[in-house]
Amino acid sequence: MIREMTKRDLDKAGNLYKDANKFTNKKNILNWTEKDLDNFPRYHLVFEERHRILGAISGIILKKKVVSIEDIAIHKSYRGKRIGSELIRYLINRFKKDGVKRVKLWVHWTDARAIPFYYKHSFRIIRFQRTKNIKGVPDGEDILILERRLSQ
Ligand SMILES: CC(C)(COP(=O)(O)OP(=O)(O)OC[C@H]1O[C@@H](n2cnc3c(N)ncnc32)[C@H](O)[C@@H]1OP(=O)(O)O)[C@@H](O)C(=O)NCCC(=O)NCCS
Repeated sequence: MIREMTKRDLDKAGNLYKDANKFTNKKNILNWTEKDLDNFPRYHLVFEERHRILGAISGIILKKKVVSIEDIAIHKSYRGKRIGSELIRYLINRFKKDGVKRVKLWVHWTDARAIPFYYKHSFRIIRFQRTKNIKGVPDGEDILILERRLSQ
């Protein structure tokens, strides 16, 4: 079942998100996730089964009609079972209902395995970049920027 994330889920979401942010620590991950959850609660979702959080996704608004998926991660033992696909579809449907036109995200070089997943969800690489001045993220890390344009 997919439901909105609450503060009580933060610790578990932080554990999952560690796998999507190998360049930083759990404290930094929790800092940004808690702040983002406060600001954009409708764009923070968890996949729960028998009271266990198996996956989570977090989105934020960047500017009018442009959003970003900040994190998505599925518990190691449950990957490849379409849970990630369900979460991203659910969130993108919310974005569409809210009139969002563009969804952005970035993939750190250590997460390159996730790129085919995003391509299956119609994201495309739009450029290469090095991290600079992103809170909680070291400078100089190689990342790819992906984007999906939405039509309502
Ligand atoms: C990427 C991720 C969110 C996808 O969720 P998922 O539930 O495993 O994916 P789904 O079952 O919906 O889709 C499967 C597709 O995801 C991709 N994939 C990427 N990494 C994978 C992994 N470790 N295991 C299984 N599939 C993976 C494959 O393209 C796969 O397609 P295939 O089954 O045709 O090979 C998940 O694998 C994960 O948590 N990875 C580690 C954290 C991460 O990299 N997050 C993204 C950071 S930008």
